[in-house]
Amino acid sequence: MSFSLPDLPYAHDALAPYMSKETLEYHHDKHHKAYVDNGNKLLAESDLKDKSLEEIVKGSFGKNPGLFNNAGQHYNHLHFWKWMKPNGGGDKLPGALEKKIMADLGSVAKMKEDFIQGGVTQFGSGWSWLAVKDGKIVVMKTANGESPLVHGATPILGVDVWEHSYYIDYRNRRPDYLKAFVDNLVNWDYVDELFQKAAK
Ligand SMILES: [Fe+2]
Repeated sequence: MSFSLPDLPYAHDALAPYMSKETLEYHHDKHHKAYVDNGNKLLAESDLKDKSLEEIVKGSFGKNPGLFNNAGQHYNHLHFWKWMKPNGGGDKLPGALEKKIMADLGSVAKMKEDFIQGGVTQFGSGWSWLAVKDGKIVVMKTANGESPLVHGATPILGVDVWEHSYYIDYRNRRPDYLKAFVDNLVNWDYVDELFQKAAK
């Protein structure tokens, strides 16, 4: 396979004011594109080139850092664009997902608090996650291009806390960005779709 940059599933200005057109022009058109371009160069020289993206991410982890960083970030960003939508967020979660979150994490409010806290406390660049691990929904955080995929879990929601994701709109106010992401941007239908797949 080779990596390719997907179009955003909405216009560049569709997530404003929570995530601006300028942020998406840099983040999607330049940063994600660089992961795709650099990843393709490194993949061409790798024996993983005939594998799926998930297999490339897992297979390069700890073995080929250059390929891993780019393939990992390509995987993370492919989903990140779909984890957001205009008029997202809110308290209405699909029923089965909501039930599972309440059973495993206490309440939807507690899940949101822990997910935000994961992003606030991730030192330096990285991601905060909801993932399915051993049949349970858990909150995780990872550094740089890592994801739950390389820690024995399946990601169902992730938020990018690299500065390129929020510095134009929020400067150093990472907690405000995370709150806006949870309250106004999350596409819970896509989280539910990944949850249903992971639960099978
Ligand atoms: Fe990013």
